[in-house]
Amino acid sequence: MLVARNLVKRFKDRVAVDGICFEVRRGSTLGLLGPNGAGKTTTLSMLIGLLSPDSGEVLLDGAPIGTGAGGQKHRIGLVPQDLALYDELSAWANLQLCGGLYGVTGEPLKKRAKDALELVGLGDRAHDRVGSFSGGMKRRLNIAGALLHDPELILLDEPTVGVDPQSRNAIFENLEELRRRGKTLVYTTHYMEEAERLCDQIVIIDHGKVIADDDLAGLYRLLEGTNEVTLELASEADTQLLTDLRALDGVSSVLPEGRLVRLEIADVGVTLARALDLVVARGVDVVTLRSEHASLESVFLLLTGRELRDASQAGSSAS
Ligand SMILES: Nc1ncnc2c1ncn2[C@@H]1O[C@H](COP(=O)(O)OP(=O)(O)OP(=O)(O)O)[C@@H](O)[C@H]1O
Ligand SMILES: [Mg+2]
Repeated sequence: MLVARNLVKRFKDRVAVDGICFEVRRGSTLGLLGPNGAGKTTTLSMLIGLLSPDSGEVLLDGAPIGTGAGGQKHRIGLVPQDLALYDELSAWANLQLCGGLYGVTGEPLKKRAKDALELVGLGDRAHDRVGSFSGGMKRRLNIAGALLHDPELILLDEPTVGVDPQSRNAIFENLEELRRRGKTLVYTTHYMEEAERLCDQIVIIDHGKVIADDDLAGLYRLLEGTNEVTLELASEADTQLLTDLRALDGVSSVLPEGRLVRLEIADVGVTLARALDLVVARGVDVVTLRSEHASLESVFLLLTGRELRDASQAGSSAS
């Protein structure tokens, strides 16, 4: 449905987006992930035609999106990272304004505004001033504002930032409902578990470039050990036991921490049984055992590293 082809955007000597390509299938949810400053918001701004790329193009069903008013923009809704709401106006008046900007007026706008408020759980707060809303309510209203022209494609830039688990859950349910209605979603977030729950396809960008584009299963395969197993032992593991564990096929890392030993292993079924045999043969009792499937966060850190982005950018401009 949507194609980003070789998008490049510079701000003076800083390259914010450096040749980004990806495709979004109709009806799917694509997660656009990346550290602070990776270029997510800049990319979304080009997808919706708010910013013109220095080179490259955005195609919606094969036609260029363009940056002028009109064109195909009525088919896309944007939930911006910065709240696009007027505190002095009521929720209802804000939605009337958003709808009006897309040329929706009269009865159709009233009906859509009512539906959008119901969807985000604010039906009973329509006539309250937005200034009196909590952060989570504002985030939900910010989503409603993108729905009034009934777009087929919705771009959401960190729609859950700074809200409590209840509001996040309500927002997920809104997004899942939109997906059930056949909408196509492009979604940025720093919460990896959200992307794991919602997204069919995940594009990870860093320093303005795509560094991974796959479904979750494909991303997990990038990790050598896709399971993280923690053994709590009755006594600290000795050097010999650690060496034997490291030598096991399918074990990619062994990290002792007091009486705990963390193992990264490819296959719980076979390798874990062998690891336990080694521990028992060494005469050490296992007190507890916890096994978790590797998370998207581990993949994200593997691909993007652990260095702080804000710190690394402070001294360099276009590097
Ligand atoms: N209008 C602008 N003028 C100058 N530089 C900009 C502008 N907008 C973005 N940038 C720079 O482009 C880079 C990418 O910014 P962008 O906002 O796209 O990142 P992001 O991935 O959305 O980050 P975050 O997760 O913090 O929202 C950053 O280095 C940022 O400072
Ligand atoms: Mg951003």
